[in-house]
Amino acid sequence: MENFNQVESDIISKIEKVTNRNSLDSIKTDIFGKKGIITELFKKISTLNQSQKKEYASKLNSLKIKVTNVLEKKIADFEQAEINKKLKNEKIDVTLPGRTHFSGKIHPVSQVIDEVTSIFSEIGFSVEEGPDIETEYFNFSALNTPENHPARDMHDTFYLDQSKDLLLRTHTSPVQIRTMLKDKPPFKIIAPGRTYRCDSDQTHSPMFHQLEGLHIDKNINMGHLKGCLYYFVKKFFEVEKVKMRFRPSHFPFTEPSAEVDIGYKIENGKIKVGEGDKWLEVLGCGMVHPNVLKNAKVNPKQYQGYAFGVGLDRLAMLKYGINDLRAFFESDIRWLEFYGFDPLDVPTNYRGLSR
Ligand code: DAH
Repeated sequence: MENFNQVESDIISKIEKVTNRNSLDSIKTDIFGKKGIITELFKKISTLNQSQKKEYASKLNSLKIKVTNVLEKKIADFEQAEINKKLKNEKIDVTLPGRTHFSGKIHPVSQVIDEVTSIFSEIGFSVEEGPDIETEYFNFSALNTPENHPARDMHDTFYLDQSKDLLLRTHTSPVQIRTMLKDKPPFKIIAPGRTYRCDSDQTHSPMFHQLEGLHIDKNINMGHLKGCLYYFVKKFFEVEKVKMRFRPSHFPFTEPSAEVDIGYKIENGKIKVGEGDKWLEVLGCGMVHPNVLKNAKVNPKQYQGYAFGVGLDRLAMLKYGINDLRAFFESDIRWLEFYGFDPLDVPTNYRGLSR
């Protein structure tokens, strides 16, 4: 009979000597392949007589199990070593300083949206969004806009179908209605987003950005509106004091309505916001019309509040001294290099808005 102990120690010492995965594979073939040592031993079984067969087969089986275990252990050792090597090479030192130069920049409009969001969130406003494609109802009717109002005109509004049911929203005000319909008062939200009108020149683009504000609660009055906007303008322009004036105006969705101008002057060829005797219109606002509240299933006898709408592109131009609005949307990488912001300088109230 075969000396199984000898065979076993020969094979195992061969396996133990292997130093890499490839040689291990070829040794595996030497043992278990078609002409492998153990395969050959199995072939012998048929040549043995009945009395030898049983003992031989049982010894051979336990040899096979032992060798298989040793092989598997060796394979696992190689795999573990491979993983350890990778971990060592791909180690990240989290204490290293961050990279200081990025090839990407944040667009001034995105920057301004981050800034206004930060400013309003500090006084309890949350952010809402609405779709760019609106229905005529949310964009006009629910906002108390009469059937014959000039804003509905084909010249101003991009309608998407003949029936004029669908359109590209002309302002962010429909988000007021959507917000109120899906929840219960009080409401204190802002809604930044894209808006569209048939208009294009140095200061108008067919697609532009607005920020809507809505604050509905019990006993809200125009004093709250003024306080809120004063706080906002001061924070946004990062100045201590701002000259502001509220001019009576008309919007179908507010009563009374006002337009807000801020004072400015030109100093050394640069615009200085907040002082001076020139006026610049920056936003529209007012006390939400009772019809709007009714359309949004809010009881105007119990709740009232204010709303405002700000042109964000305008704010970005003013704050960052950009004088052609069209450049905002031309995707010129050199322009963005110059006017864009560092992606890691996220504006917050405590770190500062812009630097
Ligand atoms: N939706 C108006 C516009 O696009 C702006 C506006 C004015 C919004 C008064 C308001 C508001 O919420 O109260 O011109």
